[in-house]
Amino acid sequence: MCVKGVRLYKFRNFSMEELEFSEKENIIIGGNGFGKSNLLEGIYICGSGRSFRTRAISECIKFGEKTGSVSLRLQDSSSIRVEILSNSGKNILYNEKKLKRVSNLFEILNIVYIGPQEIEYVRGSPSLRRELMDLSIMRQEPGMSSTILNYARLVKERYFHLKKLASGEAVGGEVYLDVLDERIATLGGKIVRSRLDTIDSIREKVSDTYRRITGNEDKVEITYHSSFPIKDKEKIPEAILDHLHSARERDKRYFETTVGPHRDDLMVRLNGFPIREYGSWGEMRSASFAILVSLATSSLEKREKRPVFLVDDAFANLDAARKKNLAALIQENGQFFLTITEKEELGDISPEAFIFELKKPGKPVRRENG
Ligand SMILES: Nc1ncnc2c1ncn2[C@@H]1O[C@H](COP(=O)(O)OP(=O)(O)O)[C@@H](O)[C@H]1O
Ligand SMILES: [Mg+2]
Repeated sequence: MCVKGVRLYKFRNFSMEELEFSEKENIIIGGNGFGKSNLLEGIYICGSGRSFRTRAISECIKFGEKTGSVSLRLQDSSSIRVEILSNSGKNILYNEKKLKRVSNLFEILNIVYIGPQEIEYVRGSPSLRRELMDLSIMRQEPGMSSTILNYARLVKERYFHLKKLASGEAVGGEVYLDVLDERIATLGGKIVRSRLDTIDSIREKVSDTYRRITGNEDKVEITYHSSFPIKDKEKIPEAILDHLHSARERDKRYFETTVGPHRDDLMVRLNGFPIREYGSWGEMRSASFAILVSLATSSLEKREKRPVFLVDDAFANLDAARKKNLAALIQENGQFFLTITEKEELGDISPEAFIFELKKPGKPVRRENG
């Protein structure tokens, strides 16, 4: 599903703007601080219910205003509207009817933001990669949202229970710990299984995509790195429970849960070596792209949803060949919004692309192509 148009009302530095988009490429040109990322943020909020910049969504309301909103018109004439309230609350409406769950948005749009920070998915801490895998799982299978949420709650609850056990205040004692462990193993097992399946489904594609971006023969390989050995994919909950039992004394001492998907990671290797430790900046960046594009199109294969890529300043430090390869690749796979500061950055551009120029802050104007 692609985005045909947007309406930004009292959103960031926009007072009231309406834009029509190309189903293929949309290029947004403008100086620093003019509102390019704000525009992408508006689209992203409608597709995911959250911002890629802040948890306090009320920050998106235009300075001095009490509410703001963003609406999208989609390819099939349906609409999504997000009203943002000053207490960071929001109303999400699909065809003017309130959506029950934010995760329902994932069934409508498959939106992927790729910004300058996205290299952190490869370079940064494991928690970012776990988040990325889980987001992708929720997109493929919206029912997994509650499993992921409840799992996180259980791990927290186990921590508090371990603390209380140590101070002798725990209600339920070791028996309740058994109950928690059982539930952690059940839900954790589901999450690990989904992550494994996801990784399996994109492994080849990540490797191919990386080669296509870089134009060389380097081999990028992704594997799931679990906090416990997985011998049988069908018996993951049993394995988690087993290892929770063996780790119990240690867990009681340190108030930790040492086994489970919250301790796992996604390993990315380049030619056999961990890319986080040995890769160059450009290599890590290209690997991040390859993973993000592959994840987005893997859900495409499962649910026939053409992704919408929001690529923010992301070409800035790539060489001309990589830029070109990457643009071609993204276009093949979905609708594409790209921000740049100078039109010279563009290079070759398809005559079908829509170009929007911000000549001053908050005022995008459609420009003739060429
Ligand atoms: N809530 C807001 N209300 C009005 N202006 C805002 C708000 N939030 C950010 N801005 C302004 O938006 C600008 C940043 O826009 P941004 O889209 O990040 O720029 P860029 O074009 O460089 O991507 C800054 O000038 C900032 O002051
Ligand atoms: Mg920006």
